[in-house]
Amino acid sequence: MEQRIVSGKSNDEDHRLDTTLRPQQLADYIGQEKIKGNLDIAISAAKQRNQPLDHILLHGPPGLGKTTLAHIIATEMGVPIKVTSGPAIERPADMVSILTRLQHGETLFIDEIHRLSRVVEEVLYPAMEDFFVSWVIDKGLKARSINLAIPPFTLIGATTRYGMVSSPLRDRFGSVDRLDFYGQDAMNLIVDRSARILEITAEQNGTEEIARRSRGTPRVANRLLKRVRDYAQVMAEGVVTGPVTQHALERLEIDDLGLDSTDYLVLKAIIEKFDGGPVGLDTLAASISEEAETISDVYEPFLLQTGFLDRTRRGRIATPRAYKHLGMDYQCPNSNQPSLL
Ligand SMILES: Nc1ncnc2c1ncn2[C@@H]1O[C@H](COP(=O)(O)OP(=O)(O)OP(=O)(O)O)[C@@H](O)[C@H]1O
Ligand SMILES: [Mg+2]
Repeated sequence: MEQRIVSGKSNDEDHRLDTTLRPQQLADYIGQEKIKGNLDIAISAAKQRNQPLDHILLHGPPGLGKTTLAHIIATEMGVPIKVTSGPAIERPADMVSILTRLQHGETLFIDEIHRLSRVVEEVLYPAMEDFFVSWVIDKGLKARSINLAIPPFTLIGATTRYGMVSSPLRDRFGSVDRLDFYGQDAMNLIVDRSARILEITAEQNGTEEIARRSRGTPRVANRLLKRVRDYAQVMAEGVVTGPVTQHALERLEIDDLGLDSTDYLVLKAIIEKFDGGPVGLDTLAASISEEAETISDVYEPFLLQTGFLDRTRRGRIATPRAYKHLGMDYQCPNSNQPSLL
C-alpha cells in the first residue's frame, strides 16, 4: 500500500526531516508537560548525585517524539547515547557485546524494544538491575556461567506496542511514560517552530489549519507543512496562507479532522461490511487488505482518540460519531425493538 501522508510512521524522506526538526533540549520539546516535568526533576537529581538516570520506558503511537526525547535525555545528562533496536539484537551474545562496551553513565536507546526475543531480554535483566551480565560458556558437563560487571548506564526503551513488552522487562524500568497525542495549542507551537526552522513564511491561519489536521502528531505536521509549502510556492508566492493550506489539504485528501482515505476505508468497512461491528481485528484487516498490526498501531489509536472507533471485547465497532462524520445513517441496533421501560 502506498505511504499515507497522515501516517505517524516514518519513511525515508521523514528521516531527514526528523533530524533537521528534532528539538535538542528539553526546553525546546513542546507539550507532554507531565513527562517533561518528571524528567526535569529526575535529571537534576541524578546529576546532583552524580549517578545515571533510572531506566525509562517510553511508549505511544508513532511520530509523537519518543526517539526525540531519548536523545534529549542523553544531551541533558551530558552523556553519549548508543542507538539500537529490538530486531537488530538477534542473539544473546549481541546484547552482551553491546552492554560490555558501554561507557560509564552512557544511555542505551533500544527502539522497538517489544521485539527483543526472550533469550536476549534475559541478558538485560541483571544488567538493568545490578549492572552485570551473565552468560554460559562451554557445553554439557563443562558448562559454567560467567558474571561480568558492566558500567552503570541508563536504558531507554521505546515502543508503539506497550502490551507486547513482557512484564519482567516492564518491571525493571524505573519509570514508564506514555506519550499522548498533542493538543491544538502544542501542535500550533510545533508547526510554528518547524516553519521557522525551514524558513517558510506562514500566516497564522495556515499554520493553525495544518496543526488542526495533523492528528495530534508532530511528524505528520512536519510532513504536511512541507507538502503545503509546495502549493504555497506555486499558488501564493511562497506564503502558507489559510486558503492555500485548505486547498492543498483537500488535494491531498485529508479532511478537516485529519482523516484520510484509509481512515475512511477502515470506518466504511466496519459500517458497510460488518454492520457497524463488532468485528475482529484480523477479519477487518483482511477485508481491506491491510496488516492487522498496521491497523492497530497506526490507524486505530487516532480513531479511538477522536471517538470514531471503539474497542469492545468482541471486536471493533464504529461509533455514531463515525456514521455522522461519514454522512451515513446510524441505525441503533435495537432501535426498532419496543422499549422495555
Ligand atoms: N515535542 C516535540 N516538539 C517538537 N517537535 C517534535 C516533538 N516531538 C516530536 N517532534 C517532531 O516529530 C518528529 C518525529 O518524532 P520522533 O521521531 O521522536 O517520533 P517517535 O515517537 O520516535 O516515532 P516512531 O514511533 O515512529 O519511532 C521529530 O523529528 C520532531 O521533528
Ligand atoms: Mg522513533
